[in-house]
Amino acid sequence: MAEILDFSELVRARHSVRAFLPEPLSKEELDGVLGDAQRSPSNSNTQPWHVHIVSGAKRDELRAALLDAAARGEMSLDFSFDPKYGQNDVLLDHVSRYGQVYYETMGVARGDAEGRGKLMLRNLEFFDAPHVAFLFLPVVGDSVRVAADIGMYAQTFLLSLTARGFGGIPQTMLGHFANTVREVLGISDEHKLLFGISFGRPDKTALANSFRVDRVPVEDSVVLHS
Ligand SMILES: Cc1cc2nc3c(=O)[nH]c(=O)nc-3n(C[C@H](O)[C@H](O)[C@H](O)COP(=O)(O)O)c2cc1C
Repeated sequence: MAEILDFSELVRARHSVRAFLPEPLSKEELDGVLGDAQRSPSNSNTQPWHVHIVSGAKRDELRAALLDAAARGEMSLDFSFDPKYGQNDVLLDHVSRYGQVYYETMGVARGDAEGRGKLMLRNLEFFDAPHVAFLFLPVVGDSVRVAADIGMYAQTFLLSLTARGFGGIPQTMLGHFANTVREVLGISDEHKLLFGISFGRPDKTALANSFRVDRVPVEDSVVLHS
């Protein structure tokens, strides 16, 4: 049984988990997390999330298909991804600080393209998590507001995992192979893939789970008006 955390402790205990134990969640454990996430707020209560949970043999099949697609260079994104973050210096500074702590912890040097490539591929191996949730949405206008609702869902899902002693990681990288995911899971082209969340029981001894990413001070993000 997971220890009960108060809300601030819970928020601070959540982190992106990049190494998992193989034991899957039970049906009851999974139902608990999905029931929590279903309570997420959304624009006019539209509840636009279409969530596909992949486990067991299907997970193995999808993982193989994703690695094949990556080896063939067959990327298919429903939503654009800009690795340069619009050349926004503030955002790029945050990205590089995160990259530094991640790659340093994993023993991968700045210029080691092969090492970085291998680490990137861990995304498609679901970091060995027993389950993956794929978050799809229907297209509405430019989809920005629907995507915000999916973000609400994702954070509730992640906090519920943490509260119950599990963990997960949201992964834009899984959204780079939307056609492969749709094909393997038999999903209509009308539903677009924003990102996936690999989840399960964190391997607390793993190096990949040993670091934490800091945040800028509140006053860098928030302006108080009165
Ligand atoms: C929508 C979204 C997509 C993300 N995609 C990836 C990803 O593809 N691969 C990855 O390793 N981390 C990914 N992350 C995790 C971020 O790197 C992580 O949230 C950030 O560095 C802060 O660290 P923390 O979650 O441990 O607090 C993603 C996070 C979010 C919110």
